[in-house]
Amino acid sequence: MPATHPLVTRSPQALVETLRGLGLRRFCLVPDPATGALVASHPALQPLADFVAAAGRDFEGHEGLFFQISERHDTLQGAFVHRTCRGQAAGGVRYWAYDTVEDYLRDGLRLAMGMTHKNALAGLWWGGGKGVMARNPAVDRDDPGVRADLYRDYGALMTSIRGCYVTAEDVGTCVTDMDHIFERTRFTTCIAPALGGSGNPSVPTARGVVAGMRAALEHLGAGTLEGKTVAVQGLGNVGWPLVGMLLDAGVARIIGCDVDEGRVASARDRFAGRPFEATLIARDDESWLATDCDVLAPCATGAVLNPRTIPRLRARVVCGAANNQLEDPERDDRALHERGILYVPDFLTNRMGIVTCADEQAGYVPGDPLIERHLGRDWEHGIHRAALRVFAESSATGRPPGTTARAQADALSREPHPIFGHRGPAIIRGLVDDGWAG
Ligand code: NAI
Repeated sequence: MPATHPLVTRSPQALVETLRGLGLRRFCLVPDPATGALVASHPALQPLADFVAAAGRDFEGHEGLFFQISERHDTLQGAFVHRTCRGQAAGGVRYWAYDTVEDYLRDGLRLAMGMTHKNALAGLWWGGGKGVMARNPAVDRDDPGVRADLYRDYGALMTSIRGCYVTAEDVGTCVTDMDHIFERTRFTTCIAPALGGSGNPSVPTARGVVAGMRAALEHLGAGTLEGKTVAVQGLGNVGWPLVGMLLDAGVARIIGCDVDEGRVASARDRFAGRPFEATLIARDDESWLATDCDVLAPCATGAVLNPRTIPRLRARVVCGAANNQLEDPERDDRALHERGILYVPDFLTNRMGIVTCADEQAGYVPGDPLIERHLGRDWEHGIHRAALRVFAESSATGRPPGTTARAQADALSREPHPIFGHRGPAIIRGLVDDGWAG
């Protein structure tokens, strides 16, 4: 349903001004326990709750949405809790520019559901949630002092909601930001190794992508990576180690690309003398995705699989690290399936970032089995077996793999945590009863 209410159609900054006018710094949207209807903490904000409740496939009974204006720099900060059966909602906090409150809310709702699926399919005892901060155009996001303030304030938000959501790094944020959050709360992950965190997860993420590729080739009866041609879009934190791993696995040829001239030049130097070539491309050049290859690995940005690119793809398998590769999760999943291209769902194969962060509290073991079981062939929730299970069901039912993986993840996400049970709604009810929003 298109948004019509000015609270929804205007910018996040306009919402901040409205809240100030009402004398509010916080509000929440939480289901009424008796009726299930989504209720705003303040009657004047009920149009926001009504919009969310009617947001179609972006809203799926989220357990609670919490918002504040940051103490400094007038920034709208939110915590979107989707489902907490498997444990506290876990997922990164995004810092992004949004034109409208609708865009902001839809992004948070969708991303929170995505984390429920990613965490459940990975067999993690975590629910799904997401943080979203809407960039205030009047503040300099690159000023380290401003950033420190914003993330400390976000940490205060985390503490205030009593752990129903545990935050992490995401697009637009870095480990230093997480460290600032950590100054104000225990409910964050992805902190620096110097503070006991797990550090940069890009190498395990690349290993997870390799595991997904191997499973896909096995399902197709196409053997191993040896002798294959792989196209890697984006030679960044994940794409770079991925190239090295694929070369070590004996691929015949890697065709890489990036929009950054320096990256392309360094990759050519680093992998000189090996079957690797790199091309500099323009940011809006989608034609490169039609490169002739066995496996296409999108490791740059989202929405690269869409009605413009899918008809031209020449790969048999698509398997990469980028989040939200399908521009439309249902339409493009189906289009790939109909073309006979095996798509390894991104949220299945790129899980290692959240896996390494989410397990920080468990401490560290050399060759950590908590990590390695995701990358081996044996564990039922490991990438290999989870992917084969998705492909087998997809082949049997004719439903595309993304849809199949989401359905499997959805069932897993409803299993209660073996120790804590489904505790999130009780935390949220306590917040509402204690007048969290003021
Ligand atoms: P990154 O920012 O280090 O690397 C991305 C690379 O892609 C950069 O070198 C950039 O210049 C290039 N790029 C941007 N637009 C491009 C385009 N249109 N065509 C070709 N190259 C382009 O990011 P990172 O960490 O390597 O992540 C890659 C993707 O994987 C992102 O979508 C990220 O959200 C996702 N991801 C990363 C995880 C991690 O552990 N780093 C975990 C899970 C997902």
